[in-house]
Amino acid sequence: MTKSVFAAVSAVALCAASVAVAEPKAEVLHWWTSGGEAKSVAVLQQEFSDAGGTWTDMPVAGGGGDAAMSALRARVLAGNAPTAVQLKGPAIQEWYEEGVLADISKVAEAEGWADVLPASIAAHMKCEGTWCAAPVNVHRVDWIWANADVLEANGIEMPQTWEEFNAAAEKLQAAGIIPLAHGGQAWQDATVFEAVALGILGPDGFRKAFVDLDEATLTSPEMIAVFDQMRKMRGFVDPNFPGRDWNLATAMVMNGEAAFQIMGDWAKGEFLAAGKVPGDDFLCASVPGDGFLYNVDSFAMFDVDGDDSVAGQELLAKLVVGQSFQKVFNLNKGSIPARTDVALDDFDSCAHLSSKEMAESSDNGSLLPSYAHGMALRGAQSGAITDVVTSHFNSDMSSQEAVEQLAAAIANSL
Ligand code: GAL
Repeated sequence: MTKSVFAAVSAVALCAASVAVAEPKAEVLHWWTSGGEAKSVAVLQQEFSDAGGTWTDMPVAGGGGDAAMSALRARVLAGNAPTAVQLKGPAIQEWYEEGVLADISKVAEAEGWADVLPASIAAHMKCEGTWCAAPVNVHRVDWIWANADVLEANGIEMPQTWEEFNAAAEKLQAAGIIPLAHGGQAWQDATVFEAVALGILGPDGFRKAFVDLDEATLTSPEMIAVFDQMRKMRGFVDPNFPGRDWNLATAMVMNGEAAFQIMGDWAKGEFLAAGKVPGDDFLCASVPGDGFLYNVDSFAMFDVDGDDSVAGQELLAKLVVGQSFQKVFNLNKGSIPARTDVALDDFDSCAHLSSKEMAESSDNGSLLPSYAHGMALRGAQSGAITDVVTSHFNSDMSSQEAVEQLAAAIANSL
């Protein structure tokens, strides 16, 4: 081969090689649009672009993700699924059964996910033995957040029982402070309901009701007591609660307009994004009673064409379970890492409490999936429960009627 022919052949080969190198890209559907959430997802965008990826953002506002899930369905029905989607719990397996998810086992195996994720979390990420989602965190749902100054000024400690909570709320109300910051959206009603239910039913009762859907538990005197407490909660919210976004409710606690909020620890992401300090400005405690309700955010990849998209999915999956992302993202998000090998030294006292109580509850069988955040049940069943919870909260329905409706709604949804 002459020199010039060799050069020409090399140039063609180089050119072919550069054509074959995929440029990772991803269109990412998520519902992280509040202050703390946006800061958290920005960490992922940054890591993705630092690694050479091109990110197309598809945020769908709406806490809890109901609107995002409607947008996802519309896109999939139109044959135009996003590359990566914030998806969690049994919804992952539901989408898998529709045959639209990509298999990310290659990344999971190369990255040794099985060795760094707790088995209970890994199980949510598997579809018939293959890896079909990548976890980013563990949010705890059963928290009470409080304004530290408001409690102190009114001589109130963080409540240890629901009776103490009710007594504190009545005292605050008499002092002209809104006891409970709440947004009247179905998923927020469900969030408060499941926290109350865990406290009153206890971990075993919660499991029977919201994992096993046991009719006797759903209609038990204890479940009636749960709805009685919800009726009390309704009396502790201000008249402007309908439709309010959860982060605006958090802001009411921040600025002292309200004393408490019952919300998952994405609320801590809001406090932190506003520069508030746990223990000083705001307090965190698990709701009265035992147990731990977990809510694991994750991303699933949808089957899409094109080497660039597939490379984008692989890069994204690798990054989100990576040690560095799991640390920085969760510092912002209010959650704790899903990986067990991320040091928590830089995390705050609420995160330490979460990690400790998660380990304890895992050991004693009281680590439970959140029904309100789509970890325990398929959509039809969790939706049936939430419909009853929210119509009870927004009417004068009796607790007896609520439990009857609950049992009927579950029976119809199966
Ligand atoms: C949850 C989600 C959290 C948080 C919250 C409010 O369902 O798991 O990451 O974003 O909704 O939007």
